[in-house]
Formats: sequence, C-alpha cells, structure tokens
Amino acid sequence: MEIVIVDSSEDGAVIVADAIGRVVSSGVSPTLGLATGGSPLGVYRELIARSRAGTLRLADTTCFLLDEYVGLAQDHPESYRSFIRREFTDHTDIADEAVHGPDATAADLSGAAERYEAAIRGAGGIDLQLLGIGSDGHIGFNEPSSSLGSRTRLKTLTEETRRANARFFDGDADAVPRYALTQGIGTILEARHLVLLASGPAKAEAVAAAIEGPLTASLPASALQLHPHATVVIDGTAASLLERTDYYRATYDAKPEWQEI
Ligand code: GLP
Repeated sequence: MEIVIVDSSEDGAVIVADAIGRVVSSGVSPTLGLATGGSPLGVYRELIARSRAGTLRLADTTCFLLDEYVGLAQDHPESYRSFIRREFTDHTDIADEAVHGPDATAADLSGAAERYEAAIRGAGGIDLQLLGIGSDGHIGFNEPSSSLGSRTRLKTLTEETRRANARFFDGDADAVPRYALTQGIGTILEARHLVLLASGPAKAEAVAAAIEGPLTASLPASALQLHPHATVVIDGTAASLLERTDYYRATYDAKPEWQEI
C-alpha cells in the first residue's frame, strides 16, 4: 500500500486527477469507480476543470457508482446517481448512459445486485476505483462486520453512518435511508487500482486502523491491505494517528520519476 500525505486536499486532488488522466488516456474503454461523499469532491472539481480546459477527454469512459441508497427515487437530489451527476459527470463529456449504479429502486434488490456485478464484469472490470472512508472504517456502505469476500448486496446502515450523512438531509438522521445497495468488499478488491481519499481529524482513527491495524472485517477499509495496488491519499490531520509517517513521507519524496501512484 502506498501512503501519500499531502499538505492540502487540493494537492491530493491533483495527484489523483493525474492518475485518472493516465487511466482514461491509455485505455480503449476505460472504467472508473466513483465514490460519493465529501472526500472525492476535490478530485471531481479538478477533473471538471481539466475537461473544460480541453486537456482531459472523458468521452469514452464508463463509470460505476460504489453504492446507492435504497428508498430514494433515482432523481431524488440526494440519491448517489443525482449526486454524481451534479458534482461531476454533468460537467464533463461523460455520457449520462455511461454512468451506472446499482438499481436500488428495483422490486428485486438481490436481482439488481447480481445485474450490477454482471455489468461491471461486462465492462471488463474497473480500472481505478475511488474510495472514501467512514469514521467507522466503512468503504462503500460495507459497514463493520461485512465479509471481506462480499459482493454487491443490500446492507443496513449503522446509526453512526446515518448521523454522519444527516448533513445531506437537512441534519435529520431519520431522513437518511436505512438501507443501501453497495459493491461488496470482494467486488471492490477486483478493481485494478484502489485510491482512498481522506482528510480531517475525524478520519484519523479509521485511517490508522485501516493502514497499520490488523486485517479485519470489523474495519472494512483494512481490506486494502490485500490489494496489490492500493494508494491512500490523506492530509496531515487524517494521518495524525499513524505511527510510520516519517517512512511514508520519505518513500513518497524519494519516488523514482517513472513510478506513478
Ligand atoms: C458514505 C459513502 C461512502 C463514503 C463515506 C464517507 O457513507 N457511502 O462511500 O466514503 O460516506 O464520506 P465523506 O467522504 O463525506 O466523509
């Protein structure tokens, strides 16, 4: 796992946007895995700026959302489908039909989860998957105790997650859906490159546990330890509880020119 400690989220966004730029310009039909929440917003802003400036072409890119709330219409402003359109894809040349999410409005949610897995496989898998991390260590909506081999399925959100996401629902945790369809940890681990973004002191404990703690279903983000190409991009406050920051900083500073994240 590579740990990149940045001075600001903006610096991190540039590093990650560069990596995405390499992926979309090198593949014939590149695929991106998209996360919602606050953590990836800087990356989306950077990609939008590059797209508008004409320095980044995303037109051939297919996108797959990590997860989706159950119980919200697709056009509800806080559905993850709406979020990603509003914050990212609508401002680029990514076609709306090329943005996929699990169909959390389906009557048969297990069938919808299987279809989503098939769609990801059909697109050749995900080249680069963006991830945030919950304060309880969740990735996607894989809450603590999620199987490390799990696939896309229905999950019940913890009260901690519903409280954390209440800010998108006028501060009302009861308005946050109780269930979501989420890519499983096994699904996420099949992406060719995982990039986890985190900033702020509220994430420090989960970040330290994910990187330096044991591999455990109790801290789903620790599953990144199993992945051959995982990059964690964090600011100093999110890194504040890590023990080996000197090593991570020295390693990144001494990175050979040719070696990308
Ligand atoms: C939600 C999303 C996750 C995201 C997490 C952290 O629960 N399902 O994918 O990583 O929130 O969000 P934020 O980046 O806003 O802290």
